[in-house]
Amino acid sequence: MPQDAAQTIYLADYAPFTHTVEQVHLTFRLAPGATRVLSRISFAPTPNAPAGPFFLHGEQLNLISARIDGAPVTPEVTATGLTCPVPDGPFTWEAEVEISPETNTALEGLYMSRSMYCTQCEAEGFRKITFYPDRPDVMAPFTVRIESDLPVLLSNGNPTGNGDGWAEWTDPWPKPAYLFALVAGELVNHADRFTTASGRDVELNIWVRPGDEHKCAFGMDALKRSMQWDEEVYGREYDLDVFNIVAVDDFNMGAMENKGLNIFNSSAVLASPETSTDANFERIEGIIAHEYFHNWTGNRITCRDWFQLCLKEGLTVFRDQQFTGDMRSHAVKRIEDVLMLRGRQFREDNGPLAHPVRPESFVEINNFYTATVYEKGAEVIGMLKRLVGDDAYYQALDLYFDRHDGQACTIEDWLKVFEDTTGRDLSQFKRWYAQAGTPRVRVDEAWSPGPKGGTYTLHLRQTTPPTPGQPDKEPLVIPVAVGLLSPNGDEVVPTQVLEFTEVSQAFKFEGLASRPVPSILRGFSAPVILERQSSADERAFLLAHDTDPFNKWEAGRGLAKDVLSRTIAGKPAPTASFVDALHAMAADTRLDPAFRALALRLPAQDDMAQTLFDSGLTPDPLQIYSALRHLRETIAAQMGGLLADLYDEMAVPGPYRPDAEDSGRRSLRQAALSYLTLIDGGARARTQFAGADNMTEQLGALSCLLDIGAADTALADFRTQWQNDRLVMDKWFGLQVSLAPPDTAAVRANALTEDRDFDWKNPNRFRAVIGGLAMNPAGFHDPSGASYALVTDWLIRLDPVNPQTTARMSTAFETWKRYDADRQGMIRENLERLAATPGLSRDTTEMVSRILA
Ligand code: ARG
Ligand code: ZN
Repeated sequence: MPQDAAQTIYLADYAPFTHTVEQVHLTFRLAPGATRVLSRISFAPTPNAPAGPFFLHGEQLNLISARIDGAPVTPEVTATGLTCPVPDGPFTWEAEVEISPETNTALEGLYMSRSMYCTQCEAEGFRKITFYPDRPDVMAPFTVRIESDLPVLLSNGNPTGNGDGWAEWTDPWPKPAYLFALVAGELVNHADRFTTASGRDVELNIWVRPGDEHKCAFGMDALKRSMQWDEEVYGREYDLDVFNIVAVDDFNMGAMENKGLNIFNSSAVLASPETSTDANFERIEGIIAHEYFHNWTGNRITCRDWFQLCLKEGLTVFRDQQFTGDMRSHAVKRIEDVLMLRGRQFREDNGPLAHPVRPESFVEINNFYTATVYEKGAEVIGMLKRLVGDDAYYQALDLYFDRHDGQACTIEDWLKVFEDTTGRDLSQFKRWYAQAGTPRVRVDEAWSPGPKGGTYTLHLRQTTPPTPGQPDKEPLVIPVAVGLLSPNGDEVVPTQVLEFTEVSQAFKFEGLASRPVPSILRGFSAPVILERQSSADERAFLLAHDTDPFNKWEAGRGLAKDVLSRTIAGKPAPTASFVDALHAMAADTRLDPAFRALALRLPAQDDMAQTLFDSGLTPDPLQIYSALRHLRETIAAQMGGLLADLYDEMAVPGPYRPDAEDSGRRSLRQAALSYLTLIDGGARARTQFAGADNMTEQLGALSCLLDIGAADTALADFRTQWQNDRLVMDKWFGLQVSLAPPDTAAVRANALTEDRDFDWKNPNRFRAVIGGLAMNPAGFHDPSGASYALVTDWLIRLDPVNPQTTARMSTAFETWKRYDADRQGMIRENLERLAATPGLSRDTTEMVSRILA
């Protein structure tokens, strides 16, 4: 089917809809190949709206009949919607359409996942369900009647009736269509209750396939903790009588915050000790919180248009990060978040897909559910909070909820509540939303001794490199948190936040007894790249003495990167001081085991590639791979005694618990094992694999064995044990690709695509193998080009079936300009081959053309 010429949508073109919607009634007569959707919608003209024809979105709908105020009409239907003459005043629109959930493989709109009906409407999926103004600024109360013989029939809001073969749901809260949801299937529930602060009794359910009941308890507990946290920290209560969560096996993303009916990728909610790792538990806790928090930041207050996506996503990510910090450890969470920001967002912001936190144009909005909108969007809120202080932050949030409840808002509305609360002018701060690219902050320093103590001066200089469509950049408001240490390791100036607003600015600290050692950008107070000359000695000093846990970790990170960069460049490297510092840190029992585990983790291959590229070099993925391997072997050889002790001491007694303490111990133990495996031939890993009673330890051991190429037996045993558990089998597929030795990765991935269990239409399975290959940088960039070709072949195959996941996976190529001419040539060939595919989706077309531009 030929695609419509791709149309670019601009923020500047925003205009309100011609009509408002007073009420929506929907009836679904479910049948796999021919579902009937009957709509009855009351419209009224929007006061002062620009004149224009009455247009309703609609795609892939078979219109059976339409009526206005009861009289049949014949609208003009195109591939994107319909227009129809309408009365001047209020009127009732009725339509009946037929759709085919069974053949909907794009997983957008109403579709089927293994005989269960479910929906995904964000961003623009509702238009595949019925004709409607499918835009977030049109909000209305919905009633939904579902007719089906399936036992469980769910929609948004509260249940308001049911009988033999039908159920009715009423959602009193006006909502945009993207928050609509429907689920029908043979499901069972894990039920619980929650009483809100004001005494509302809420029924809670997690709905799953029979057989998955034992994987719900943790998600339920996380939900109740999220509900309580939002009351305590933001004063936000739940507002319906029921809250339902459904686990779905075929889902493009993590989860979706539909009002009162959250739909989750089963990987983002189902958990049990035997089948889920500690990292899975933590991720699930965070996603449950995220979707729940959307009830206020997203649902009660939504976005005026999709350019404002960060209004709900940046804020909700920020809130889920706060929550995880409160539940676990703020220091550890901050480091994990920065690792993720640098690994995904910096990579995006420094390549062809760079875009502002609030983009100004798009072709396909699904392509903008990005690390920039989500994670950098959250960083921007963190900076705002740091600048105005905690009290003003929560006051501004109260004002936001008060002023904008029930509205569809913009970033301007958001910033205005901060301006009104604090009296600050945020016009320069607002550039964070408009300007793409990762700012560089260069630091130079000066020391002048004096009779009444010396003066230490920090000279800061900021630049942001050009990004697509934005050649020139303006200075940003950058909060730089700084503390100063004396040479003996005492903190002489505690953390203060410098407001760095000019291109170049100096900050003075007076009355110091001796030249201090600065700890700059504490807590990673801004999403920037700090450029500062620092010696290995100074890094080791900060690693030992910094009171800021983030910068303590960062010092070790910096040392590791120095060692790796110098090794790769064939220069003498400060390996000895790094290993000494690492040893001291790993042995320091005053430090949280989870923190020590993070310190023992070396920079990722992709992180090193970006670091080398940033310093003007062309990274060689194989060199990075070998340098990392070599450094790991050195550490293993020199710290073997300590690591062996840690491995024994960190064993966690008693039944498995996924809390911060136990998972921290397991992660330190795993860090030790990953080094020890390099010197013990896999003896410990084999024993651990055989005896593990939880997935964290089983998978941890399996990774170590894969790492030394000794996993054949373990892989076979693992499969035998878990072949009936799809989520665990995703791990089996993914791990062997992402940990394959570079020159065998493509072959391994290709073999797995021929496996009887490679269900490539399932996004989780596709991502495990094809995404797993992209996550193995040395394997993906193997000089033969085999991985590039394999990934491209599969993108071409998936695109007609599921454009959204295809487009997302094309980001595997977003870093291509970092690499040498040979690799760039091969990647270009493959991208051009993808772009030339007849009928390529709008989603993938947009991505590939931006990557190639
Ligand atoms: N709003 C969802 C979340 O952040 C993400 C849904 C995105 N889905 C999509 N098809 N673009 O939790
Ligand atoms: Zn979200």
